[in-house]
Amino acid sequence: MRPRHSQGTYPLPLYGILRMKERWVFACFPSKQVWRKLVKAIVCTEYGPPDVLQLTEVERPTPKDDEALVRVHAVSVNAGDLETLRGEWHARFVGPIRPRYKILGTDMAGRVEAVGGNVKRFQPGDEVWGDLSYPYGYGTFAEYVCASENALALKPASMTFEEAATYPHSAIISLQSLRDKGQIQRGQQVLINGAGGGMGTFAVQLAKYFGAEVTGVDSAMKLDMLRSIGADHVLDYTQEDYTKSGQRYDLIFDVVAYRSVLDYRRALSPEGVYVWVGGSLATLLQVVFLGTLISRMGSKKIGLNAWDANNREDLVLLAELFESGKVVPVIDRCYPLSEAAQAFRYLEEGHVLGKAVITVAHNMT
Ligand SMILES: NC(=O)c1ccc[n+]([C@@H]2O[C@H](COP(=O)([O-])OP(=O)(O)OC[C@H]3O[C@@H](n4cnc5c(N)ncnc54)[C@H](OP(=O)(O)O)[C@@H]3O)[C@@H](O)[C@H]2O)c1
Repeated sequence: MRPRHSQGTYPLPLYGILRMKERWVFACFPSKQVWRKLVKAIVCTEYGPPDVLQLTEVERPTPKDDEALVRVHAVSVNAGDLETLRGEWHARFVGPIRPRYKILGTDMAGRVEAVGGNVKRFQPGDEVWGDLSYPYGYGTFAEYVCASENALALKPASMTFEEAATYPHSAIISLQSLRDKGQIQRGQQVLINGAGGGMGTFAVQLAKYFGAEVTGVDSAMKLDMLRSIGADHVLDYTQEDYTKSGQRYDLIFDVVAYRSVLDYRRALSPEGVYVWVGGSLATLLQVVFLGTLISRMGSKKIGLNAWDANNREDLVLLAELFESGKVVPVIDRCYPLSEAAQAFRYLEEGHVLGKAVITVAHNMT
């Protein structure tokens, strides 16, 4: 997939002399900024801590036939972005030495500025939301991004851009994991591990919406917030290990999986389902190999949920749940684009309750 943006520079105007009509004249050629539109973006050219992120100017992208040019108004900061920045294992699959995508950022909300010739569902001025992670090319930490028509949906008018930017990635993966992979049922005991973060706060509310009795596991500072969004029971993972408590769960949704698969198996009820969403490579490999074996040989199911990009109907459901107040985003803080590195640091320190969001201001002059 082509890069979303090409990197801009700050060339000086070019001066020179030209021979025109038999006379030498002094000429000034305008800089690239003048004849090409430059826009601000957070660029990441190497793996490392948040300090490697640079606020710079890049050429404004041009939409292909099936794309819309979106003026980004808000982007959420996801743990997946931070892991890519650090060069963790999944980032190295696509970019072994340096990041494959120079501008990170998955989910966003914004306004359509222009559309390619084959775009049917959107027109300039439409407010949209969407997740531009694989296979859509990332690039949302920027004032503008080009997005495939298939990655976008109309944003509900009742949502702010900041609220909308929290949903497309985290809420959809939570929904797909609980409903499709986990086959969640009313009355089940459901445990959400990592419940206080970007995905977990949606997962807790979605599990309540599906009628489950929900246990949220996270650090002590997040437990009051978890109760406030509907968790029936809360556990501080620094004090209690839920896999050793003797309690059994019908469904475990895990975004921070670092244990042995056998621990998860022990914590499941006889027909229970464990869904891996995030965690260490070692645990993922165990889930893929040992988990598959356990699932084939017994009644307990252990597997992973990978992101499915065909999700426009899911965004419609999530919009309805937002409007009815059943599933609402938990936004801890908003940062301007220029402070994206601070937002990443805040997430890295483990302080974020729910989501941190970047608000992208546009100078309308
Ligand atoms: N499967 C897929 O398709 C897919 C797609 C996208 C992302 N992901 C993955 O999903 C993962 C989570 O994303 P997220 O946005 O929800 O992350 P997040 O916002 O960082 O939330 C993680 C939460 O887990 C807590 N936590 C940390 N260690 C814990 C432990 N040992 N036990 C229980 N809770 C713990 C954290 O709290 P403290 O920091 O306070 O401890 C934090 O509240 C990422 O690893 C990402 O790569 C998967």
